[in-house]
Amino acid sequence: MFKQIQFSNSRPTYLQIKEYIQNLIVSGSLQSGERLPATRELGALLKVSRNTVIQAYQYLEDDGFIKTIKGKGAYVAAVAVDKEDLTYSFDWSSLLNDSAQAAKQLDVEKNELRWEKGMISFKSIAPDPDLFEVESFKRSFLNRFALEGAKLLNYGYAKGYQNLLRYLKEYIKNKGVNLSGKDILITNGFTEGLYLILTALMSPGDRIICENPTHNTALKIMKVAGLEVVGVPMLDDGIDLEILEAKLATSGIKLGYLIPSYHNPTGLVMSPEKRIKVLKLFETYRVPVLEDGFNEELRYSGAHLAPLLAHSGSGNGVIYLGSFSKILFPGLRIGWIIADQQLIASLESVKRSINIHTSFLDQAILFEYLSSGEFDKYLKKARRVYRERYQSAVALVNQYLPCKKVWGEGGLHLFIELEEHLDARQILAECYRRGVLFMPGDIFYTDNSGKNTFRLGIARVSREEMERGLRIIGEVIEQQSKLK
Ligand SMILES: Cc1ncc(COP(=O)(O)O)c(C=O)c1O
Repeated sequence: MFKQIQFSNSRPTYLQIKEYIQNLIVSGSLQSGERLPATRELGALLKVSRNTVIQAYQYLEDDGFIKTIKGKGAYVAAVAVDKEDLTYSFDWSSLLNDSAQAAKQLDVEKNELRWEKGMISFKSIAPDPDLFEVESFKRSFLNRFALEGAKLLNYGYAKGYQNLLRYLKEYIKNKGVNLSGKDILITNGFTEGLYLILTALMSPGDRIICENPTHNTALKIMKVAGLEVVGVPMLDDGIDLEILEAKLATSGIKLGYLIPSYHNPTGLVMSPEKRIKVLKLFETYRVPVLEDGFNEELRYSGAHLAPLLAHSGSGNGVIYLGSFSKILFPGLRIGWIIADQQLIASLESVKRSINIHTSFLDQAILFEYLSSGEFDKYLKKARRVYRERYQSAVALVNQYLPCKKVWGEGGLHLFIELEEHLDARQILAECYRRGVLFMPGDIFYTDNSGKNTFRLGIARVSREEMERGLRIIGEVIEQQSKLK
């Protein structure tokens, strides 16, 4: 029985022996009261030292699986192992509520075509991990951990790690934001920030207005919350103000969600004049706005653009959602909300009720990295590399893709609008067969339109892959244009 243990190198030997014996006990192969082999005997059998077996037995005794009796040996304790074969089972899929059904239905990771090894993928807009400065991040970890180690492993505060909050306040002040009467809450990325706000402010059936198309994860969260999503079409310079006003005036809208810089998926940047007009409309109709500033640092050209939050001055009508996911490391899952002080106090309680706080260890390492100046260096490099990729992508798209319009002014993606009669999903199916993947545009639309659109993520494709991939997409579009 004991001879069958197969040791691996990945765990200490005494733990492997302990777990093997524990397994024999819980499965009923070793019965309560049975005597275990003497430590010397088992050591010889397994070709390990007697001390290793003694250690394993000590751990088994600590966990209540065996009892050692001085001078007599070790015995299996009175562990209850009887398992009735009850038919205590459910059909869980039939028990899911509407939110979970919606989350499943809108889960892009599960429902869309997946990348296979060797494919050229324009599907994702995640940053290029080859740009990450792993060594400097490691240094930040070691430095901060040396300073605060044990403290960072204990519970922290829902609002966030003090040093990071302080850093972000300065950071956001430098964007011209008036912080009086406002406060910050650290979140698990933009995604949790949006979830917290919708949880705090909206009820199922409430109406939210946004650009159409819009960020598909935001759309999913709104639908999962049971909201009615009212989309406003995009013109060449961003949201259509006339339609926005008409809907604000008549549709009983409770909240707005906008992405003014490098909008996902169109890549458009709203001009300062338009930002002010948009804000005035929301002000006129007394509707607060969520501003998604996820990508505004990835500016490749032109003057700095103030966020809506800065334009709103000392007013509290704008709730700003920031994230380090695109401008730094998405795996850290760190974002933030800046909003009216009292609203933040409420969101803090909502967050505490959901997940207590965002990892303090992660926040502290990030703070160290940000304050060491490494972030600024990284951003400079990332902007240069992404700008080159963006410029190559625009040139290659113009060369290879027959289409109606190429949308995008920067960021990590381009949005392609094909002639009306073409179906991007049919084109994707053929491209996929030929080893190229992109994101069909319909997932970004509030109203199931956009069948003739798709998004090209460009952050992680080399110039050579880009050329090969776009040539294939272009050929497929041409073929399918002829068929229609
Ligand atoms: C419009 C938009 N906002 C925010 C984010 C970042 O989300 P998170 O911080 O949850 O990773 C993304 C990521 O793709 C996005 O496209």
